[in-house]
Amino acid sequence: MTDTMIGVIGGSGLYEIDGLEGASWIEVESPWGDPSDSILTGRLDGVPMAFLPRHGRGHVHSPSTVPYCANIDALKRIGVTDVISVSACGSFREDMAPGDFVIVDQFIDRTFAREKSFFGTGLVAHVSLAHPTCERLSAACEASARDAGITVHRGGTYLCMEGPQFSSVAESKLYRDVWNCDVIGMTNMPEAKLAREAELCYASVAMITDYDSWHPEHGAVDINEIIRTLSGNADKGRELVQRLPALLGKDRAPCPHGCDRALEFAIMTAPE
Ligand code: ADE
Repeated sequence: MTDTMIGVIGGSGLYEIDGLEGASWIEVESPWGDPSDSILTGRLDGVPMAFLPRHGRGHVHSPSTVPYCANIDALKRIGVTDVISVSACGSFREDMAPGDFVIVDQFIDRTFAREKSFFGTGLVAHVSLAHPTCERLSAACEASARDAGITVHRGGTYLCMEGPQFSSVAESKLYRDVWNCDVIGMTNMPEAKLAREAELCYASVAMITDYDSWHPEHGAVDINEIIRTLSGNADKGRELVQRLPALLGKDRAPCPHGCDRALEFAIMTAPE
């Protein structure tokens, strides 16, 4: 057993978590540069928590300029064991409606302008990403969401686009009809890849704000619709996070899926 520390990376709409005992914002240095912001630390139900606003307070980082490597490294450095990524997304499914949450389990990475690995100069490592999210942590997120009365879908494929513009209708239909994706967002990649390289359990809670641009009755992504749904989603997101520590507990058994030992199973080439 080790000690649990839950790290929450909050997306658009979620800029802090409430009710932390001994809350303080700390600055964490990383050789990968500055993280998006200071990290809010404290305890909930006796479990250490860390919260990092992905875009920074004041939303200063676009999806392409979020310092993903520094963020994951900073969380790892302060002892985080389990990362919950909370983010806004669009939906490709009629039955996954704005206001619903999806516990994502697969990704298609269409980003192209981001640093995606801690490895590459000197030390090369190839970790498995066949199952990019942690089943144990995802199950806890689903249970917390249900407990909070949130409509939640377990499992879904998230198309990660570069942005910052939204998709064209043709792209939206390609992702939905041909690639069979369920939701679309701009931030979960390379976050999930880096969390795996850092041997952190990672679960993605995607909060639906819109139907992207494929839906004949909804037309293009409407920013006003997104903003309206965002604030309701953020309240639900906070409710979900509040329930997690009690579910996960202070003592942490090794991940049954091996997320916390990913490098033991990786192909690695050490420098000569
Ligand atoms: N975030 C919220 N809605 C989105 C959409 N339709 N596409 C990409 N990112 C999003």
